[in-house]
Amino acid sequence: MIILKSQDEIKRIAEACHIVAEALENIKKIILQGTTTLELDRFAETFIVSKGATPAFKGYKGYPASLCTSVNEEVVHGIPSAAKRLKEGDIISLDVGVYYKGFYGDAAVTLPVGKINDTAKRLLAATEGALYQGMKSAVIGNRLSDISSAIQDYVETRGFSVVRNFVGHGIGRELHEEPQLPNFGSPGEGPVLMDGMVLAIEPMVNAGTWEVVILDDGWTAVTRDNSLSAHFEHTVAITLDGPNALTKL
Ligand code: MF3
Ligand code: CO
Repeated sequence: MIILKSQDEIKRIAEACHIVAEALENIKKIILQGTTTLELDRFAETFIVSKGATPAFKGYKGYPASLCTSVNEEVVHGIPSAAKRLKEGDIISLDVGVYYKGFYGDAAVTLPVGKINDTAKRLLAATEGALYQGMKSAVIGNRLSDISSAIQDYVETRGFSVVRNFVGHGIGRELHEEPQLPNFGSPGEGPVLMDGMVLAIEPMVNAGTWEVVILDDGWTAVTRDNSLSAHFEHTVAITLDGPNALTKL
């Protein structure tokens, strides 16, 4: 069942989302070559707690950190580590979830570390562009897979592939609610989008094959061919005024 949210509930989800957006904005500022992903995690957690909120990912199905830090060929769910030092030319995706006063917010960005190569630049642009393209279809009266299909088209037109193994999701009083939102598929299928739906739209895009492998840590997803991967995510409310990206500052 898809839970529709009242305007008051959306306001409260937006408060959680605002903390997510601020956290990402602040982490951006400390990303430098030589920084470890564990330092980013500590920083994010301190920030979230300072706002009176709780990191949503820590302890979720046993996930050990507050942040997901996925570098280069890592697709999602990279576990922060003192051994992982950023270097010039890397791309790093940061995924943050927050629980605040009964509601969740969830967002991700992928950032360059210093100068990155041309493929990496195009990959970041295609993935972020796909998120915004998908959001354009997140309007009342469309069907869910209109979002999926818009994302897939946008990505494949640019010569990249969308990951099949992970999906976007409804969000609200739970981090993951119905519906599941794949980043691929034919348009015109699935539930009709309605006022008050809140969706985490999160394209994951690979430079090579869409296939992924999970590492022995049980979490880190990497591309099967070791090609680069990027991830962008917003928590988006579907409203009478159109899609509202609540995790945007
Ligand atoms: N944004 C991801 C999601 O929607 C992050 C989850 S990480 C986990 O599922 F650790 F919480 F699983
Ligand atoms: Co999510």
